[in-house]
Amino acid sequence: MKRLPIGILGSGKGSNCRAILERIRSGDLAAEARVVISDVLDAPILDIAREFSVANAFLPSGQFRTRLEPNVENELVNMLREAGVDLVVLAGFMRVLHAPMLKAFPRRIINIHPSLLPKFPGLEAWKQALATGEEVSGCTVHYVDEKIDHGEIIAQHEVRILPDDTPESLHARIQIAERELYPAVIAEFCERYRATGL
Ligand code: GAR
Repeated sequence: MKRLPIGILGSGKGSNCRAILERIRSGDLAAEARVVISDVLDAPILDIAREFSVANAFLPSGQFRTRLEPNVENELVNMLREAGVDLVVLAGFMRVLHAPMLKAFPRRIINIHPSLLPKFPGLEAWKQALATGEEVSGCTVHYVDEKIDHGEIIAQHEVRILPDDTPESLHARIQIAERELYPAVIAEFCERYRATGL
């Protein structure tokens, strides 16, 4: 079977990465994880890659806090190309991408964000949703562009906000929804790849 070669980028605990790798292992997802890359040396997402025997790498990000230095971003492009990646999956990757990546992988980079975009881009989106008294929040998968948590929306999953929700309880339910939504979206890319190529 033709499997979609993906690369996963993340900065943190890697629960979305784990969900994706589990679906690949169980045969539910016709993808092949070629590499997992993190800008954080001791990020648990790299341990998860090792647990699943997926090639993995630490990418020292350089001097900026929210973006990669241009030469580092070029290096990231090279790493992904050398790994033969066709779809770049951002899973908690806390840096904004710019021209080198966006030009190298046009409409081939997707992100997941814990809100119903365009509402509440940025950090700790679930807290923003609670603070403004929303009744519903959720998560969004979207194509990546040069703005933070911005770009064409591919799919969303709603999560109802309960009267006694705390930031932690809401975040936990949104993360459960993420772990369903992201593999489902990637499965659609896999199907398109199998049928016609991306
Ligand atoms: C996820 O909740 C994802 O939506 C969020 O980071 C978390 C990573 O968790 N991404 C963003 O906020 C992007 N702006 P994980 O490392 O357990 O997958």
